[in-house]
Parts: sequence; C-alpha cells; structure tokens
Amino acid sequence: MRPRRQAAPERKDVPHVTEKGLRDVVAADTKVSDIDGQLGKLWYVGYPIEDLAEHATFEEVVYLLHHGELPTRSQLDELTRFLAHERKLSPFGTKMMPTLADTASPMSMLRTMVSGTSTFDPDGWDESPDAQYRKAMRLIARTPSMITSYHRLRTGQEVVPPNPRLSNAANFLWMLHGEEPDPDDVKAMDVSFILYADHTMNASTFTARIIASTLADMFSAITGAIACLKGPLHGGANEEAMKMLEEVAKPENAEGYVADRLARKEKIFGFGHAVYTTMDPRAAIFKDYSRRTGEAHGDTSWYEISEAIEETTFEQKGLYPNVDFYAASVYHVLGIPTDLMTPIFALARMAGWTAHVREQYADNRVIRPDSDYVGPSERPWDPIDDRA
Ligand SMILES: CC(C)(COP(=O)(O)OP(=O)(O)OC[C@H]1O[C@@H](n2cnc3c(N)ncnc32)[C@H](O)[C@@H]1OP(=O)(O)O)[C@@H](O)C(=O)NCCC(=O)NCCS
Repeated sequence: MRPRRQAAPERKDVPHVTEKGLRDVVAADTKVSDIDGQLGKLWYVGYPIEDLAEHATFEEVVYLLHHGELPTRSQLDELTRFLAHERKLSPFGTKMMPTLADTASPMSMLRTMVSGTSTFDPDGWDESPDAQYRKAMRLIARTPSMITSYHRLRTGQEVVPPNPRLSNAANFLWMLHGEEPDPDDVKAMDVSFILYADHTMNASTFTARIIASTLADMFSAITGAIACLKGPLHGGANEEAMKMLEEVAKPENAEGYVADRLARKEKIFGFGHAVYTTMDPRAAIFKDYSRRTGEAHGDTSWYEISEAIEETTFEQKGLYPNVDFYAASVYHVLGIPTDLMTPIFALARMAGWTAHVREQYADNRVIRPDSDYVGPSERPWDPIDDRA
C-alpha cells in the first residue's frame, strides 16, 4: 500500500477566500465601471449613472465604455454609422434563425446565435486589437436584430429589416413591433440600455473575462457570458420579477404574497444585491421610468403593484429592489414579452462585456485561482468486487 498523501502545509502566502461566492476577492483592475455599495453609487468611467441616464445615449455610453472618454460629435457620428450598418444578421445567422425560433428559448437562441455565427464575422480569426474592437461593435449592433428576428418568426410575423436612420433603441422597438416608436418609449428603452450596460465584476462579466484570459476569442467569451446571465439569480431575475407582478395582480395582495414566500424561504426576485446594501441606483431610475411609462400608456397598475411589493419587502425583510425589479414593469408597459426581458439585458450588457474582454486582452494573465481541497486524503484503489 502506498503511503497516504500528507496534508499540504497551510499556504500562508496565498490569501484565502473567507466568504462563499468570492465576495471578498478583487479579481481584476478595471477602468470600465465602479460601485460604492454602501452609498448606492455607480459610475461608468467616472460618470455617475444618474448623469448618463439623463444626458447620454446608449451609443455614447458604448463609446465611453470602450474608449474611456465621452465621444466628440464626429466620433459619435462615426460609431453610430458603424453600428447602424452592422445590424444585419450574417447569411448563416439568417438561415439558422427559423429553426431556433421554432425550438429554442430566447436566451438559448441568443447563446447559440452568438456562438454559431462567430465564424462568419468579417474579421474572421484576426485577433488584433482593431479587429477585436470591430467584433465588439458588431456584437452590439447585431444582438437586437437576433432578438427581434427571433420574436417575429416565432409569432408568425415577417422579420422587419433594420432601419439605419434609427438609434439603437428606436431600431430595436421598430424591428420588434414593426411600427415607428413613440419618442418617449424610445427614451425609456435607451435609458434601460444605459442602466444595464455595465456593472463591474458581476458573474457574467467575470465569466467573460475568465474565458478571454485563456486567449479564447471574443465570441467564445461572450457566449459564456450569455450562458451565465441566463440564471434567475442574475439576469433572469427581471423575467421572474414580471411573473411575480402578474401573480400578485393587485397592490393589496403584495403583503400576503411576500410573507408567504419569505415563510417558505423563497427569494423575492428583483430584490437584494451582492454589492449594494442600500437602494441600487439603477432601480431608482427604473422606478421613475416605471411610473412615467405607465402614465404615458394609461396603465399605472404595474407600477402600483411594484411599489406595494417594494414597501412590503422592505418592511418584512429589509431588502431593497435591484435593477431588475422596476425594469420588468417598464418593459411590460412597452409591450415587451416577458421572456425577452433577459435577452434585452444581454443586448445592453454586450457593451460592458465586450469592453471588459478587450481590457482583459490588453493586460492579460490567465485567471486560475486555487481551491482548498476538503475531500478524503490519498487512499488505495478498491477493486470493484471489494467495494461495499
Ligand atoms: C442578488 C442575490 C443573488 C445576492 O445574493 P447574496 O449577496 O449572496 O445574498 P444572500 O443570498 O447571501 O442573502 C443574504 C440574506 O438575505 C436573503 N435574501 C437575499 N436576497 C433575497 C431575496 N431576493 N428574497 C428573499 N431573501 C433574500 C437571503 O435569503 C439571506 O437571508 P438569511 O441571512 O436569512 O439566510 C440575492 O439577493 C438574490 O437571490 N436576489 C434575488 C435574485 C435577483 O434579483 N437577482 C438579480 C441581482 S441584480
């Protein structure tokens, strides 16, 4: 019998994780965004999210996240033109879409499309920084077309071609509904894209950076990020929040609903956050848009149910809403089907994911943490007939 492996001496030089979920680990330096969880503050490259939501367009935010500065007018025009002309799906993507519209859920479609169309990028396997930038912009431009084409096909409608005269947000609503959108709806959509565009080292961004750190290509990193976003503890929460609003149905049902869920130790989706111990600043902005969009469409019922759930969840559990909670009522009032809410999160987060992937490539070391082994120590092989 071989000697048992000695337990490894404690590695004092390696900082150990003291909390599950890597809460106390700083995984990278980044210039893209920053959060103060106690103050409830979020900045993209130094600009407060409130200022960006009020003054910027999504296209300006894309430029900011990727270049580290706000664009001049001519820089913005150039980027806007590039994005508007890159919206069309590749011939392979167009061919694949009807099958996915028949068989796949929206997030599975998105994950598959990004992966499946990767070899059809005009820059091919060119991994130079300039090619990476163009690939990032094409992903940002094409994701809305993937979501809208998918939805049109699955509902038996004709795919609406992209309109290069429209902004990213306006074009999304145009391709989804086939009608020129109302300017206030476009503003609400655009603000939602800005709010979802980046959020430091969240689970999907970390996933993308890990994949990029092996020098795998941009499409692989983004495919992984989409897969990670899908879960209800991350991007899937806005859809779960919408289902909850429908189940609650009236503000007066909120108290009992929340009490029942908490008694069963179930999560209230759209509440709580790994970083914010106070109100998520994005939730405050979405809340305002939930009320405004509801008023503009003559239906504030979703806002009222949401507010009742917010009040009772705070009273009963001390939890604040996160970005996904009021996003649900905004999207619902804008006529967005519930199962497209997480894909919309993905189309906006594409801006941040790709910026982080490029940042990772620019200063890379493979991300490879260690683990503490807590299983049995070395033991002899048991022949199959001797096993208990
Ligand atoms: C976001 C989230 C995953 C953060 O998780 P976390 O930092 O690990 O927080 P924990 O899960 O450790 O929660 C700490 C405590 O608050 C509770 N809690 C956190 N969020 C909760 C929620 N939404 N509903 C009910 N209880 C919640 C936990 O059950 C735990 O309670 P306990 O101490 O009595 O066991 C968590 O808040 C959550 O699951 N929220 C719902 C999903 C969601 O909205 N996700 C989108 C995030 S932007």
